[in-house]
Amino acid sequence: MTNQEIIAQADQVIIKTYGRYPVAFVRGQGSTVWDADGKAYTDFLSGLAVTVLGHCHPRVVEAITQQAQTLIHVSNFYHTVPQTAVATFLSAHAFGGKAFFCNSGAEANEAALKIARKYSHDRYDESRTGIITTTNSFHGRTLGTIAATGQEKVRKGFEPILPGFTYVPYGDLAAMEQAMTEHTCAVLVEPIQGEGGIVVPPGGYLEGLRRMCDQRDVLLMFDEVQTGIGHTGYYFGYQHEGVVPDVMTLAKGLAGGMPIGVMMAKPQIAEALGPGTHGSTFGGNPVSCSAALAVLQTIEDEHLLDHVQEVGAYFLDGLRRLQQKYALITDVRGRGLMVAADLDRPGGHMVVKAMERGYLFNCTVDCVLRFLPPLIITQPEVDGLLTTLEAIFAEE
Ligand SMILES: Cc1ncc(COP(=O)(O)O)c(C=O)c1O
Repeated sequence: MTNQEIIAQADQVIIKTYGRYPVAFVRGQGSTVWDADGKAYTDFLSGLAVTVLGHCHPRVVEAITQQAQTLIHVSNFYHTVPQTAVATFLSAHAFGGKAFFCNSGAEANEAALKIARKYSHDRYDESRTGIITTTNSFHGRTLGTIAATGQEKVRKGFEPILPGFTYVPYGDLAAMEQAMTEHTCAVLVEPIQGEGGIVVPPGGYLEGLRRMCDQRDVLLMFDEVQTGIGHTGYYFGYQHEGVVPDVMTLAKGLAGGMPIGVMMAKPQIAEALGPGTHGSTFGGNPVSCSAALAVLQTIEDEHLLDHVQEVGAYFLDGLRRLQQKYALITDVRGRGLMVAADLDRPGGHMVVKAMERGYLFNCTVDCVLRFLPPLIITQPEVDGLLTTLEAIFAEE
């Protein structure tokens, strides 16, 4: 089938929750994906920070194939080797935390919201249910996570909204302090806001949040769904600041393209969720967990975090050079391979032009070009993108 045939069919049968580009992908290898008409694209989006080892990495393919031939699913009434192995790896790298497995970022955040309320309920009283999040955050599309998301537009039409959420400007410690009351049980923030436009908080922000939360036994929860699994040059975004959360959520890149979500909690907080308090049929599925293990071991074996820091710095430098030349770029920011160019105008049409020239990335909050390439992206591939961007900027 051609792009056009697939799109015509999709229009008949798929609910339009996404404004999709007129292209259908059929194959991927490394940093490249091919559409149904055979056109190749270099992927600077990675399915939105998901295919961290690129497309169809041989170790991920091998892990999925082997596991699919061995055991595809059993209930969480039972233990499995891959689920325990992923939790062991994550615990060793993330504050000795304990894991709850689910299937997506929104579900991981739902688990975080539930554990925050349950922990507080068990220790204090029933009025301590408030959760503070930040404006322009993004935490998911379920009813709980749209309540947590600090953007009016995701809640519109879905009222009544789950009560108990307060939103304060990101990076503003004074506003956070003011919003905290005796009813607050948790703070949920992204270490770098992703959908909000790759917003890196001012130095000392996460540390300030940690201090405020400690003073009140309020849980500090980091949504690492987009920042996690190496994109910033560390496994987790919080490691840049050395500020350890009480609860952390992961999804997207963890299994390299297989669906997975995890909520990690410090052991004493994890106690709040006992048998029967939460669950997921598919959470921690053996095939997804085998893929996750392959991703994590490959990041280790191939020293990909060092590579991300190196290529990420090169990429940011290249964008800054373009910024000096083209006044339409008002800011270049990011960490590692989570990178953005902020424009003085909407950038949606530039994304389309880049696609026509064989590059994938996206535009968020209207004016921010966002790049989330796989951790294996190379300097020559970055050079190719920069050349294409320059040609597009020159046409403005
Ligand atoms: C920071 C953050 N949290 C949560 C989510 C929701 O993840 P999912 O789409 O897997 O539910 C996203 C998705 O973009 C995200 O960027």
